[in-house]
Amino acid sequence: MAEVVGRDDELASILAFLDDGASSAILLEGEAGIGKTTLWRAGVEAARDRGHTVLSCNPSGSETHFSLSALRDLLDDDFDALADGLPEPQQRALRVALLRSEPEEAAPQPSAVAASFLNALRALAGRGPVLVAVDDVQWLDSPSAEVIEYAARRLRGDPIRLLLSARTEGVAKVKYTAAGIACPAQVDATASLTGKGIAGKASVKVAAGKTTTIAIPVKAKAGTTGPATFKIVLKTNGRTTTETCKVRVVVTK
Ligand SMILES: Nc1ncnc2c1ncn2[C@@H]1O[C@H](COP(=O)(O)OP(=O)(O)OP(=O)(O)O)[C@@H](O)[C@H]1O
Ligand SMILES: [Mg+2]
Repeated sequence: MAEVVGRDDELASILAFLDDGASSAILLEGEAGIGKTTLWRAGVEAARDRGHTVLSCNPSGSETHFSLSALRDLLDDDFDALADGLPEPQQRALRVALLRSEPEEAAPQPSAVAASFLNALRALAGRGPVLVAVDDVQWLDSPSAEVIEYAARRLRGDPIRLLLSARTEGVAKVKYTAAGIACPAQVDATASLTGKGIAGKASVKVAAGKTTTIAIPVKAKAGTTGPATFKIVLKTNGRTTTETCKVRVVVTK
């Protein structure tokens, strides 16, 4: 197991979670840099040592707009083993969702992808315990999050568990470039995030022509989740430009 300093209680909880089967999900939550990924990795390794099939993904803030990218990461390695146990229409729905096949007509409905994912997990679980491990759930792209949530709500009695990590504060990141904006040496950028139950604001200086990442601490009501409108206000000498985009925010505390 990768060296984990201290955290004996947390590690013991993760091992008990893997061994006793009493609960179907564990969430490691905490502030940035507190050691969530370190514990999450230790949990993944412990599950592999115990012979679990581990489906894992580590979404990043720059991929939240890539539809189903996290689901592809989760399933790509085990796809053949997975597909074996599924009826043909469900195999097809997953193949198309995972960009392994062209859709025959219309793309499969999200509900078909979700049901196929759940059945694929159950088929895998017929051969032994399964761990679905997602590090940084706040960065999941929305369609993947919906598919995982659909499955998570239906895990009763199956040897399928979820090991999740999440930052306690919601953080929205956006990349943009100041290129093309008539500005002096640098621009002041103010980014604000608004949505149902959430609000956040951050300021950053960006050198002309450079790309930057803005992390916005978000104040949110517990349980807030879903898309929010993200507004970037660029202030230059005598000129204000506003851009709007959608981000997905998952706040766990
Ligand atoms: N218990 C620990 N034992 C050994 N190293 C640790 C421990 N906790 C944290 N670290 C180290 O501290 C750094 C940050 O830890 P880690 O990446 O796990 O934090 P995180 O909570 O996942 O951060 P983020 O919110 O940015 O994803 C890493 O270099 C990691 O190796
Ligand atoms: Mg981490």
